[in-house]
Amino acid sequence: MKLTAQRAQRLVAAAAAARKHAHAPYSKFRIGAALLASSGRIYTGVNVENASYGLTICAERVAAGNAVSAGERRFAAVAIVSPGAAMPCGACRQVLAEFGDCTVICADARRLGQMSVEPLSGLLPHMFRI
Ligand code: THU
Repeated sequence: MKLTAQRAQRLVAAAAAARKHAHAPYSKFRIGAALLASSGRIYTGVNVENASYGLTICAERVAAGNAVSAGERRFAAVAIVSPGAAMPCGACRQVLAEFGDCTVICADARRLGQMSVEPLSGLLPHMFRI
């Protein structure tokens, strides 16, 4: 699955649309994620916060769970939309890396065109493996 500019744009749009459903009443930091699987399908996720703060789940991991539960195992790219185009946390990098390298697109929620694009392997060198 080649990540064309059009596919990247669609992925960012899917993450931005999903972000509307983020449950972030505590941090108010809303994040939407969209994964492009090798099948060509897109799976989304949002951050799901909890009153017991530590139970919060990141948007990327929700998207990965959605994709894996649909039978997907390979991802071409993930788009993450948040204020200021935040990068994925270390835990999410490790979870995504479980399924191989992919392109990570981080876009600013207020200006979707403002984005960084880099390989996951560059963001997580020496991932944990057993
Ligand atoms: N968050 C994500 O959804 N993804 C990340 O990679 C890092 C942080 C969420 C968790 C929490 O709901 C909010 O951002 C602020 O930390």
